[in-house]
Amino acid sequence: MLIETHAHLYFEQFDEDRDEVIKGASEAGVKKIINIAVDLETSTQCIELAEKYEGLFATIGIHPNDATKLDSSSLGELRELSRHQKVVAIGEIGMDLHWDRCPVKVQERAFREQIWLAKEVGLPIIIHNRDAGRKIIHILKSEGTEGLSGVFHCFSDDKKTAEEVMDLGFHISFTGNLTFRKSRLPEVAEMVPLDKLLLETDCPFLAPEPKRGRRNEPAHVIYIAQKLAEIKKVTFTKITEITTSNAKRLFGLGERAME
Ligand code: NI
Repeated sequence: MLIETHAHLYFEQFDEDRDEVIKGASEAGVKKIINIAVDLETSTQCIELAEKYEGLFATIGIHPNDATKLDSSSLGELRELSRHQKVVAIGEIGMDLHWDRCPVKVQERAFREQIWLAKEVGLPIIIHNRDAGRKIIHILKSEGTEGLSGVFHCFSDDKKTAEEVMDLGFHISFTGNLTFRKSRLPEVAEMVPLDKLLLETDCPFLAPEPKRGRRNEPAHVIYIAQKLAEIKKVTFTKITEITTSNAKRLFGLGERAME
């Protein structure tokens, strides 16, 4: 069994065949999928989908590019939604200094407020980091990471940042960009201990080789697992076993799974 820890199945790219995509993932051995929200509306959509499929789980949270949407009212609604039994994390939250769609100060405030929420309700966080590794680590340290866990998703930073992420006790996961021909990420993945790795696609984006350029989907997490097995010099089965147990532990996924 494999666990896909980062999908965006509510996007319109899946409007035509969402059910088949989820079924296809299950047939490929991907028995649990965490659907990741980016704002209040998609938080609700993630929960609705999770109610429909046994092996589907949800997160709630506001993405740094949408940080202006976080106010006391939306924060209150997120707090309510976080109590749903299939909500397993707060995310994706973090900082994005690449697109700069939202003022840095607003992003930082939204990030901090959602870290407080995660601590309050006892859920792990899914971190989006785009050109903001230093800043995010600074914020996490200043907030204190005791009792806080989570993952730096779609890791694309350097080795030094990876070291610091692991020092904070956080997990690291790579998307399809790990498989791209000129990627320097295999060097980073090599130094990440197996018990800190998770599998994810970030679909519909970032399809791995050999599907690069096409729509990504949860079943493609297999290609990431294959690449990790090659980099870590272990079997494919070993990668699937350890990432599955890591994901179950981090997100408290229990036994619910796809048929
Ligand atoms: Ni994402």
